[in-house]
Amino acid sequence: MDKTPFIQIKDLRKVYKLGKERVVALDGINLTIQRGEICCILGTSGSGKSTLLNMMAGLERPTKGQVLYSGKDVTRFDERRWALFRQKNIGFVFQSYNLMTGLSGIENVAMPLMFRGMDKDKRTRIAKEMLREVGLGNRMKHKPTQMSGGQQQRVGIARAFVTKPKIVFADEPTGNLDSKTTMEVMELMVNKSRENNQTFILVTHDNGIARYADRIVTIVDGRIVKDEANESIARTREQIAADQKAQQPADGKEVEEAAPLSEQAVAANMSTEGAE
Ligand SMILES: Nc1ncnc2c1ncn2[C@@H]1O[C@H](COP(=O)(O)OP(=O)(O)OP(=O)(O)O)[C@@H](O)[C@H]1O
Ligand SMILES: [Mg+2]
Repeated sequence: MDKTPFIQIKDLRKVYKLGKERVVALDGINLTIQRGEICCILGTSGSGKSTLLNMMAGLERPTKGQVLYSGKDVTRFDERRWALFRQKNIGFVFQSYNLMTGLSGIENVAMPLMFRGMDKDKRTRIAKEMLREVGLGNRMKHKPTQMSGGQQQRVGIARAFVTKPKIVFADEPTGNLDSKTTMEVMELMVNKSRENNQTFILVTHDNGIARYADRIVTIVDGRIVKDEANESIARTREQIAADQKAQQPADGKEVEEAAPLSEQAVAANMSTEGAE
């Protein structure tokens, strides 16, 4: 069996320079994440969580260090390659939903399928199915402004998961939601990830949210200070490894690069993804 870890972060460092001032946002992060893991990056405001996520998704460049997916070093991908890589492998859930306000729920969810070149009838059908799955069967023609925060985030989740990406990143996905909706939305994302053996990386400052993860990595001032399995949940690392083995793609190809898109489509794709 191929033992190459799914995601590897090696000695990652990010220093922001503001005039004469230097902010060390990430200070030597080493982290390995397996396929199918549900991992929470936990830390207080300013600890470097979003910076780490942005480096992993190629939305920002590290000052030093590497990010590898299935052993492939993606750190020095150019913008276009990163955009294609994200399109093929990554879904995002944002705190502020980042939906296209002029589009309906269906159109928002269908958008990543459009970037993959799927025809309109098929993508509309799949988007509707996905919206039903997230409990929005009766709101799918509404535009974001005609929905509650919880409903908008369900659309956001449907959009992130509709292409069954290998990785889903969520940065404070419940930051604007009440406690009941937070629970529903967290369960939805975790269950979806488990269903498809997707790697789910969640960023939060909230211990209560972290308990949904299999693993909690605590970060303080840009450094990992704790990395522990979440004992309170039934699913063990051994189970993850067994699932992983069972669901390993037959061709062994873990991450893929997408077929080239038009520049316009890439630009549109990036603008919806990067705006956290
Ligand atoms: N573009 C930037 N330029 C300068 N400093 C930055 C920039 N982005 C982040 N920082 C600094 O890097 C540090 C880490 O920021 P980051 O946004 O990763 O924190 P966070 O853990 O996500 O916080 P929060 O929970 O408030 O979202 C902070 O001190 C922040 O001020
Ligand atoms: Mg943040």
